[in-house]
Amino acid sequence: MDGDVITRPAVLILLGPPGAGKGTQARRLEEKFGLIQLSTGDLLRAAVAGGTPAGKDAKAVMDAGGLVSDEIVIAILRDRLGEDDCLQGVILDGFPRTTVQAEALDILLDETGQRINAAISMDVDDAAMVERISGRYTCAGCGEGYHDSFKQPDVAGTCDNCGGTEMKRRADDTAETVASRLEAYHAQTAPLVSYYQTKGVLASVDAMGAIDEITVALGDIVTNSL
Ligand code: AP5
Repeated sequence: MDGDVITRPAVLILLGPPGAGKGTQARRLEEKFGLIQLSTGDLLRAAVAGGTPAGKDAKAVMDAGGLVSDEIVIAILRDRLGEDDCLQGVILDGFPRTTVQAEALDILLDETGQRINAAISMDVDDAAMVERISGRYTCAGCGEGYHDSFKQPDVAGTCDNCGGTEMKRRADDTAETVASRLEAYHAQTAPLVSYYQTKGVLASVDAMGAIDEITVALGDIVTNSL
């Protein structure tokens, strides 16, 4: 994609249930706008794989489809947000997920003089999310996402992005765990839609369409928010 590189730090938030396409679209916005994708799910999975104390605490909760404690997630996010590359602007994918996290983000951004450009709600039907998630896999090399039905690589088994041939599936992508993750979303994260509406930064997209169409809609929102 052509780059519309941003010249001042921007903060975008993607809100949506598991399978809404947050990761898929964040990667595309990262490339198009020169922003950094910050996925707390990815940061937590790295902590689990690395066997850190936070990762050890998070693992059982993630496997069950619940939300990891605010304390752990906020600490991980704060550390990552403080790294130099984030000064070029970020897309938050999977954070915040509770009101406590949203308030912590407000405080962190106040400290750095940044503001939230837009919080974008990706609106989907829950029923379709189980199919999206159970068919998902990613390239083990670069993290590019694919789907058994909706997005296959041009050459079967070979990543379009990096040419890697090792693909992996997430341990929490079972139908049972997805039901718990959807429940957690509606109980604890969906209220953030009105939180950001009140702040005047809420936008929303119909995220049930084709991946490319959603990218265009999101790109327009991001461009207008800068
Ligand atoms: P996390 O990794 O954030 O997972 P999630 O929010 O459940 O979201 P997913 O990654 O499953 O979905 P996505 O919206 O990114 O969809 P994707 O683009 O992959 O969190 C995992 C766990 O970590 C949580 O359960 C929790 O325990 C913990 N955690 C993380 N952050 C936390 C926080 N802040 N606080 C507390 N705990 C936290 O798309 C899915 C599939 O569909 C792909 O195969 C894709 O190719 C396909 N697809 C995408 N868009 C479309 C489309 N438009 N049409 C058809 N297919 C599509």
